[in-house]
Amino acid sequence: MAFALNTYPVTYRSKFSDGKWSGEYLEKPHKTPEEEAAMNDNERKALESSRNCYDDMPLVNYTSQYGLACFEGLKAFPQKNDSLAIFRPDRNAVRFARSMEGLQMPPFPQELFVNACIETVKRNAALGFLTRYKNEWEKDSFMTADSIYIRPFTISEGGIGVNLSSEPYVMVINTPVSSYFSSCSSDAVVTDRIRATPNGTGWIKACSNYVISALAKSEALSAGYMECVFLDATHRSYIEEGSSCNIFFYLKSGELATPELSDTILPGITRESIICLARDKGLKVSERKISIDEALEETRECFVSGTAAGATPICSLTYHGKKAQFNGGKTGELTSDIRDTIKGIQYGKLPDTKGWMVTIA
Ligand code: COI
Repeated sequence: MAFALNTYPVTYRSKFSDGKWSGEYLEKPHKTPEEEAAMNDNERKALESSRNCYDDMPLVNYTSQYGLACFEGLKAFPQKNDSLAIFRPDRNAVRFARSMEGLQMPPFPQELFVNACIETVKRNAALGFLTRYKNEWEKDSFMTADSIYIRPFTISEGGIGVNLSSEPYVMVINTPVSSYFSSCSSDAVVTDRIRATPNGTGWIKACSNYVISALAKSEALSAGYMECVFLDATHRSYIEEGSSCNIFFYLKSGELATPELSDTILPGITRESIICLARDKGLKVSERKISIDEALEETRECFVSGTAAGATPICSLTYHGKKAQFNGGKTGELTSDIRDTIKGIQYGKLPDTKGWMVTIA
């Protein structure tokens, strides 16, 4: 199971109209988990696609026509005591509201966001669908562990003119997920494409930002890399982020550096959490400009971060044919430590001293 759509039956839908949000939980077609497990591929595909259809929603809208939408990604993690716990939903709630405001939509209230995340997971768990904790995940520090991906997103009301959305829908779906990067390579390449420009929408988790990312990532994959890295639009020399994740460089000086937030960088919740954990470990962490030359010459270890990516090592970076290999091409000690710490907290193996996990009974 990687990152593929297999929506669990219970979803949430809210619509803004007459100045207020009205939400409902929808139970899409399903059988029992056992009956679904016994289905053949065609039967499963038909059921999954019926769960992804909402025939009472407008097809022609500002999202389908012009990409006007934003989304979030967060996860619920199976815990040893058979409960589930969501990582920092309050932070995603804040970012979602900011994204909606950035796109000039009425922001979705943070409390409704957190409730909808908790409640969809709770209801899908009650139907018996969600993955439970497996002791064997501990053997590789949860590298191959599963979790439940929660995807809140907006869709606009119907419309065809180039317009803003004043009466959007907010949907929340749950789908299973394991590791995001499936390629065996952990090499990255700098792309010539530009993800975000100053005064643009790069800081918003806007769907349209992911079009360039998908093109650049597909080119990187075709060239044998796992990931692409974007440079800034103005100078074409400062590191920005990966295709759908932030990026960190552990430098030879002992400093852990990540590009500073600006209007072209996505403010990642995993990024923010890693900065906090690394500072707790006594590391000097800087949010600042990192030139591609510095990254190529001074890096000891490199990793990308995100809800889907976790903390994934990058073992080399290639720029205009010049390849810098980090830590002899192997995952470095700091990268493993950060990855194990964050996964340990998320799967309940390490104490949650920051109060980041929201347990679902
Ligand atoms: C996430 O890390 O959850 C993201 O939102 C990136 C996504 C495009 C896979």
